[in-house]
Amino acid sequence: MKILSSPAIWLRVIATGVLIVCASLANAADTNRERLSLDRGWLFHLGDIDVAPVKGHEDAYGNAKAGNARGPAGREYDDSSWRKLDLPHDWAVEGPFDPDASLAQGFRPRGISWYRRYFKVDESDRGRHLELQFDAIATHSTVWVNGNIVSRNWSGYNSNYIDITPYLRYGDAMNTIAVKADATAMEGWWYEGAGIYRHTWLVKSDPVRIVTDGVYATPRQAAGPNNWELPVEVTLDNSGKQAADVTVEVSVFDPSGKQIAKQTQAVKVPLFTPTTAKLPIAVSNPAIWSIEQTNLYRVTTQVIANGKKIDETSLNTGFRTIRFDAKQGFFLNDKHVKLQGVCIHQDHAGVGVAVPDSIWEYRLRRLKELGVNAIRFSHNAPATEVLDLVDRMGFVVMDENRNFNPSPDYMKQLEWMVRRDRHHPGIILWSVFNEEPVQGTEVGYEMVRRMSAAVKALDETRPVTAAMNSGFFTPLNVSHAVDVVGANYQVADYDRFHNAHPDKPFTSSEDTSAFMTRGEYTTDQSKNLIASYDDDFALWGNSHRDAWQAIDTRPYVAGGFVWTGFDYRGEPTPNKWPSVSSVFGIMDLNGFAKDAYYIHQVQWIKDRPLVYLAPHWNWAGKEGQEIRVMVMANVERVKLLLNGRELGEQKVDNYRMNFFKVAYQPGKLEVIGFNGDKEVARAQVETTGKAVALELIPDRKGLAGDGRDAMPITVRALDAKGRAVPIDNSEVTFDISGAGKSIGHGNGNPNSHEDEKGKTRKLFNGLAQLIVQSNFESKGDIKITASAAGLKTARVSIPVKAVAPVPFVAESAAPLSQLTDWRVSPASAQRLDPNQVLADNDMNTWGWGQPPMVNVPGEVKEGKYRLYRTHFTPRKNLANGTGKLHFYSITGKAEIWLNGVMVAKKDSFEPGELNIDLPAAEGRRQMSVLVEGDGDKKAGVEGKVVIEPKK
Ligand code: GAL
Repeated sequence: MKILSSPAIWLRVIATGVLIVCASLANAADTNRERLSLDRGWLFHLGDIDVAPVKGHEDAYGNAKAGNARGPAGREYDDSSWRKLDLPHDWAVEGPFDPDASLAQGFRPRGISWYRRYFKVDESDRGRHLELQFDAIATHSTVWVNGNIVSRNWSGYNSNYIDITPYLRYGDAMNTIAVKADATAMEGWWYEGAGIYRHTWLVKSDPVRIVTDGVYATPRQAAGPNNWELPVEVTLDNSGKQAADVTVEVSVFDPSGKQIAKQTQAVKVPLFTPTTAKLPIAVSNPAIWSIEQTNLYRVTTQVIANGKKIDETSLNTGFRTIRFDAKQGFFLNDKHVKLQGVCIHQDHAGVGVAVPDSIWEYRLRRLKELGVNAIRFSHNAPATEVLDLVDRMGFVVMDENRNFNPSPDYMKQLEWMVRRDRHHPGIILWSVFNEEPVQGTEVGYEMVRRMSAAVKALDETRPVTAAMNSGFFTPLNVSHAVDVVGANYQVADYDRFHNAHPDKPFTSSEDTSAFMTRGEYTTDQSKNLIASYDDDFALWGNSHRDAWQAIDTRPYVAGGFVWTGFDYRGEPTPNKWPSVSSVFGIMDLNGFAKDAYYIHQVQWIKDRPLVYLAPHWNWAGKEGQEIRVMVMANVERVKLLLNGRELGEQKVDNYRMNFFKVAYQPGKLEVIGFNGDKEVARAQVETTGKAVALELIPDRKGLAGDGRDAMPITVRALDAKGRAVPIDNSEVTFDISGAGKSIGHGNGNPNSHEDEKGKTRKLFNGLAQLIVQSNFESKGDIKITASAAGLKTARVSIPVKAVAPVPFVAESAAPLSQLTDWRVSPASAQRLDPNQVLADNDMNTWGWGQPPMVNVPGEVKEGKYRLYRTHFTPRKNLANGTGKLHFYSITGKAEIWLNGVMVAKKDSFEPGELNIDLPAAEGRRQMSVLVEGDGDKKAGVEGKVVIEPKK
């Protein structure tokens, strides 16, 4: 008997594939780029999953082959019991807390989790280039597509772009993405979350395409008044079948959408070789981007082949100049700007690190209202949507690399950041590290030199900095390798360094680290509570007032970055368990103002008069006792009144703030601010009655029904006169129905161990925040009810407007098991024994295949019988007698044998379908299909074989 070797079967399959690819290439050429959200419809498993060890020869052989990942990494895996959810997702915030878990991570246990997602790719997509993109996964991630390992990414802070085209199956066949997210790894000393916590995308494009982040368009000022250059660089690649001759066309649109420039260039794009085209563009008299006027220009790049547009991408950029001067600090468009900055982590109440884009908008809006003009995204690059917001809202940014390491794997992370972010006008500094112990040594110097060179190879328009916290004065240190020296804390060294290096630009890269618990006015160490008078700060830090005074009074210091704009989970310094969040924030984890907010606001906002008072005026039981009153103001003079009685006047000290001692008496404490003799501002605190009602205050008027838009809703308790009660701690129960849902809540209490996703939340010093998000494709209202014992229930209805969804990859229905891994016997003239044993170490007498598996006429002279065999473990929900085996088409007579027993027979040679009830059983099953052809006519398992529910 002649044996048909397995390669012959493969050749046939490949040959058919190539034909289809060629046929559809022409169609694909008409199709533009699609960027589809892959956030919906994932399956999630918390914890790792044991996979049976590889033992026998067949197992080992199979295990080593492409596409054969085992267990949850594999194409087929029983994930029927996994939780269904949408991304972004941070499971660590779902709790609970554990005193034995890491303090740095806010006592939130982290660990390994798995995600899986099924999707189909239409036949018409054959020939296109498909790229899977993860914007970030905490922390170490491994990704498989159809059982092929396609990526290992060892950082929780960078994106990952994966060409998945070669592994795909088209049409009805299911494709599987499996992700192992290992968040046992830590890259920080703050809360880092766990899971796929930023967006995920599937980008379909022509094989001749602009590579992701492949357009560099950063304007520079040219000689002559109002002349600018926009040297655009476009990197193309080609995964098609032949080199392509294309034209690249770059158009520039002004903020009103008017096209102001165009440049084209012919480019030859060879196969699998990134090719960069340079298109210098001159622009005169552009509208300048600034913090106040965020004029953004759109740069659109098109690729044209044979007269057809085959690819297009757009980005925003801005025309502005930046300059760090060693004596006078920072200049934006030649105008001096003192950097009034904050450091922030990605972390918000209720949602952890899975912060919706619209909640980022809220957070940045809060910073803007505070007077912040600069942000340091510590200690990692933020999501790309955040930088788009920054450009639009008007902040300048220090974009910071996470891992300090110039070895190739880590250099890729740094280069990714620069490549992705270099078009943003907001970015003014690249930071290569934060506080590295080798900063004062030759080692640190050499490492930074390499990283700085890598940055400059991609973008020479911004200075490189590093946030140093010592080592400034050693003979060779990092300050010698950077353009702008960043100092974390070390106020005492500011002048020393400047005097030693008067020509080196200098900024505080981090300062302050002061502590405040929102709404508390007495420090009580036994309760981990810290008063809000700005008296408490870290040993290495300063009060808010001292830190800013040190920066503001030194012209050579470009500015400061307060640690931090918002509280974040973890790092509860100076406290330990049961504190789970930091208390460094100017605002709490919800973005509610602490008094530090008003201290900085009166220092940073100069164009309108502001006065504020602290504390609140609810001190029942303290009648007659002295209360320390802090007045925060940016006017010349303040006058304090209690119940209309003047208590005194002070000249405003905008660095130190103003303090009064007031004997407590219930009523109204008022401050009036004067410039000259003119009253320009007024503020008051008033003693309230006890709470009688709840109030819900939505942040915005409505939501878009796209399943992404989210908003915070402030929850307060009011007294009978409708005044917010600042000391109320009622427990509130939420009920949410209609077009959206709660995605979490918080109250800013760093010692709270409440479930952030549950139905209830206590107010903390009068406030809590509920975050609601619209459902996908929703419209109507989200109805929210907040109730608490003894208080009148509050109700709000948030209108949800129907909008077009963000284009997305359709969710597949409950995944069906497709039997795709078959062994195929040689043909035989005699009937074959369906239960014959194939030796475990025999990888060669039988071939491999997947449907369609057919002989073609004339191919098999040796015989008309052939045996097809597969092994499978049905998903639990189909293994219990509720499933069936569905052969879409068998040509030839056939017998189906399951674990040695014949379960069905097909008596006709004609192509036909077979449906076989799958008996209830556990574990792995062997199925053999004996097919008898009609002479040497075509025969075999032609259609797919699927385990489906019985109808
Ligand atoms: C700095 C560090 C920050 C944070 C801060 C707390 O040393 O850069 O990440 O830990 O201290 O004060």
